[in-house]
Amino acid sequence: MNNKRKELIVSAISNGTVIDHIPAENVYQVFKMLKLDKTSHQVYFGTNLESKKYGRKGIIKISDTYFQDEVINKIALVAPTATLIEIRDYEVYSKVSVSIPTSIEGIVKCFNPNCVTNKEEVTTKFEVLTDETGKLKLACHYCEKITNKNNMVFF
Ligand code: CTP
Ligand code: ZN
Repeated sequence: MNNKRKELIVSAISNGTVIDHIPAENVYQVFKMLKLDKTSHQVYFGTNLESKKYGRKGIIKISDTYFQDEVINKIALVAPTATLIEIRDYEVYSKVSVSIPTSIEGIVKCFNPNCVTNKEEVTTKFEVLTDETGKLKLACHYCEKITNKNNMVFF
């Protein structure tokens, strides 16, 4: 590969949002979190694309759609390396890294089967913490039990 800019692998968009540098294996998860199955706008995505920084990456592009910070920060749970790019009139208008939220509501199930959120119609709520190795874990607001990365189940 030389350094010349070739064509974009995934079509350029005129206006909208690009979510780049998603870990390849988590593209579908991000797709689901953003409820892209429900949108009527054009959506492009690619996975297992080459990335100098991350080896293999995924990318999602959504036309004419801009997301609120809290929506974007949720995806940091599964795609902490993601870059959020706003495109306006074909130009990169802004580019930011996603940041992990300090608390999350209603995205993940509580691991404790006896938690009120698993027994009644109560929206889950967690404080986001990191363990000694830097891995994310979630402390339930209701039962205080920890849901760690390996047993996170997304709604
Ligand atoms: N992009 C797009 N439509 C445009 C302009 C850019 O979909 N009209 C996408 C590109 O495909 C790229 C991202 O927006 O994935 C960022 O564009 P740019 O900053 O030009 O790309 P790079 O320099 O390759 O970014 P990085 O080094 O951060 O990967
Ligand atoms: Zn709980």
